[in-house]
Amino acid sequence: MAVEINEKKEDAVLSCSDLLKQYPIKKGLFHKVVGQKNIVDGVSLELERGKTLAIVGESGCGKTVLLRVLLGIENKTDGTICFNGKSLDKMSAQEKHVMQSKIQMIFQDTLGSLHPRMSIRESLEEPLILNGIQDPKEREKIILNVLEQVGLAPMFLERYPHQLSGGQRQRVVIARCLVVTPEIIFADEPISALDVSLQAQVINMLMDLQEEYHLSMLLVAHDLAVVRQIADKIMIMYFGKIVEYAPSKEIYKNAQHPYTKVLLKAAPSISKGLEDAGFDIALKPGDLPDPANPPKGCPFCTRCIYADERCMNEKPEQTMVSENHMVMCFKAGEV
Ligand SMILES: Nc1ncnc2c1ncn2[C@@H]1O[C@H](COP(=O)(O)OP(=O)(O)OP(=O)(O)O)[C@@H](O)[C@H]1O
Ligand code: SF4
Ligand SMILES: [Mg+2]
Repeated sequence: MAVEINEKKEDAVLSCSDLLKQYPIKKGLFHKVVGQKNIVDGVSLELERGKTLAIVGESGCGKTVLLRVLLGIENKTDGTICFNGKSLDKMSAQEKHVMQSKIQMIFQDTLGSLHPRMSIRESLEEPLILNGIQDPKEREKIILNVLEQVGLAPMFLERYPHQLSGGQRQRVVIARCLVVTPEIIFADEPISALDVSLQAQVINMLMDLQEEYHLSMLLVAHDLAVVRQIADKIMIMYFGKIVEYAPSKEIYKNAQHPYTKVLLKAAPSISKGLEDAGFDIALKPGDLPDPANPPKGCPFCTRCIYADERCMNEKPEQTMVSENHMVMCFKAGEV
């Protein structure tokens, strides 16, 4: 069982508890199912209304699968998901549809997110039509308003996705999410395809829009530098598990898990001075473990420079090191 983070449940617009997503392990010529691999493994989280929760972890750790399961695009294997306090398992098909319409997803791949043969106007109109807004004048008013919010001129409406820059396309993708006034935005690495100068602009824009629309945001990233400005809370994900969870400031000032420290060190803009402060952390060579053959002990033991006999053989529990700060490591506070 996951440790409950000490927060007011009624503030959570979306939450999950002990979420498990398994995929089958297939072998041989006939792809016989020989077992199950855990891709999202016991994740519990609460997204507070109007706040941003960032999920940070390296490629392949399960971030996108987690978002897809939370959105209901993929079925969970176990655990509970609640939207505005109601369990997904108890929702009718109609209620699930309403829930999904309140959650919009921004993907990393902006070209793939927009239909190449639809003009920007058509791309922005489509979700409004699907949402039953019949009056073309009303649609135009909403589109022009949102376009202004994301900093694009009306002349872009007649263009096609390939006629826009990466930054402009990402603004259109964000505008497409906003036209239907969502409650929650899932942003899956929304800026990783953009160059550095545009990244800051898009993050600033997301922050402004969040305030304006009172959005709750689940933001996925590889890199702790990216989420520093915008996240209220940060979850560090490794091999399908949340290994550290704390308010953003706490993560940057008082990270406890060796993996979080590696991520901090890997973000040059925020790790300045860490070396001087005796910050000594590295990663053993190697990749994420194979989910079909997980380590017996701590999920990070194959790469952790502090791993000892116990780490290799026992799984650490999630432990609260202070009121809102959870760490999953035997040596939290020591390393
Ligand atoms: N449908 C599927 N069947 C089997 N395995 C899958 C499936 N979808 C994803 N996986 C595996 O789940 C793991 C996590 O994938 P996921 O896409 O969530 O990673 P990620 O953290 O989003 O990585 P990235 O940062 O590169 O986007 C990967 O090992 C992937 O191969
Ligand atoms: S439990 Fe051991 S292997 Fe795992 S992160 Fe902590 S020190 Fe490293
Ligand atoms: Mg992903």
